[in-house]
Amino acid sequence: MTLIYDERSARSHDAGAEAFQALATAAAGWGALRAAVELRLPDLLPETPTAVTELAALAGAAPTRLAQLVAVLADVGVLALDERALVSHTPLSRALRSADGLPLTRLLTAGWADEAWRGLADGVRADASPFELVHGHSLFARFATDPAAAEVFHEAVATGPGDPFDEAIRAALDLTGVARVADVGGGRGRLLAALLREHRKVSGVLFDLPEAVRDAAPELRGDDRVEIRAGDLFVDRVGSADVYVLRTVLHMLDDEQAVRALANVRADAPAHARVVVVEALSDDPEHRTYAAHSSLRLFVLCGGRERSTAEFAGLFDRAGLELRSVTATGTPYHLLEAAPRLNPRTDG
Ligand SMILES: C[S@@+](CC[C@H](N)C(=O)[O-])C[C@H]1O[C@@H](n2cnc3c(N)ncnc32)[C@H](O)[C@@H]1O
Repeated sequence: MTLIYDERSARSHDAGAEAFQALATAAAGWGALRAAVELRLPDLLPETPTAVTELAALAGAAPTRLAQLVAVLADVGVLALDERALVSHTPLSRALRSADGLPLTRLLTAGWADEAWRGLADGVRADASPFELVHGHSLFARFATDPAAAEVFHEAVATGPGDPFDEAIRAALDLTGVARVADVGGGRGRLLAALLREHRKVSGVLFDLPEAVRDAAPELRGDDRVEIRAGDLFVDRVGSADVYVLRTVLHMLDDEQAVRALANVRADAPAHARVVVVEALSDDPEHRTYAAHSSLRLFVLCGGRERSTAEFAGLFDRAGLELRSVTATGTPYHLLEAAPRLNPRTDG
């Protein structure tokens, strides 16, 4: 038998092994991060450099196993480890602290969110929400009965991804001549509050599920231009407004639900109304990585996804609306503006 050495195939194996190694390293990093949060290391680690054995005592962990964990945490920047084998905080470990950490880190590392990834393969097979396959109920059903989980989610949404995105979105949204804005699925009303701060003559409606609006931004509660309405988009009508904004609401819904949500808005929308959907677009070449990763995360959490411009046009059409314009904001988010279609062909 002759052994033939195929150089091209050997090279592709090397590259494949390297890519796999990078992913395996990332997976170990994520697993270590999750364990660090579960062990509450960011909360327990003192401000001064601390020996692993001391941290192990604080965490109730086996010192040699904690040392293994800390080695990877230090490698991925969750903690720092110096030449004396002392552990210290990094910006990331501070961002993970439960009292003053970033709400988004609490959402992504929450056990109930992270466990949903176990359902990904089955979800892909069955076109079913991995979260539901793993937990037996939907994300929003979870929030209705688990106030702590709802708090983690709405706090993360109300604070991230931060002001630069908000500013760009506000700047792109023209409210000239508008009297009433409805923030549909507006969460705690972070966007509505900012819009009303800028436009003193505009009144607003904040519409969302009870567990979202119960902690509505305090400045909305004290503003007599504001109506706060606890409701379910699939059951309760949003009512009349000149502009309806749905920011990152549709991407949490599957197509049927998204059409129902838009049809609800359409039902009371006056002929001149504008429906402004703010979403990342899967066909935006500038932010392809953002959209792809966000899309998969949405699928895992709630059966949603990021969509293309054409897919949004299709959803609008099915809900009796017509896509009129798409405005880029310089962030992953675009403003897709639609208007009621007056031709009764498929309206309703
Ligand atoms: C990602 S958050 C976006 C919140 C807000 N628009 C923002 O950009 O800050 C999606 C929102 O849709 C709301 N939502 C989802 N399903 C809903 C339903 N059936 N009825 C009302 N609101 C719903 C959620 O409660 C949540 O506040």
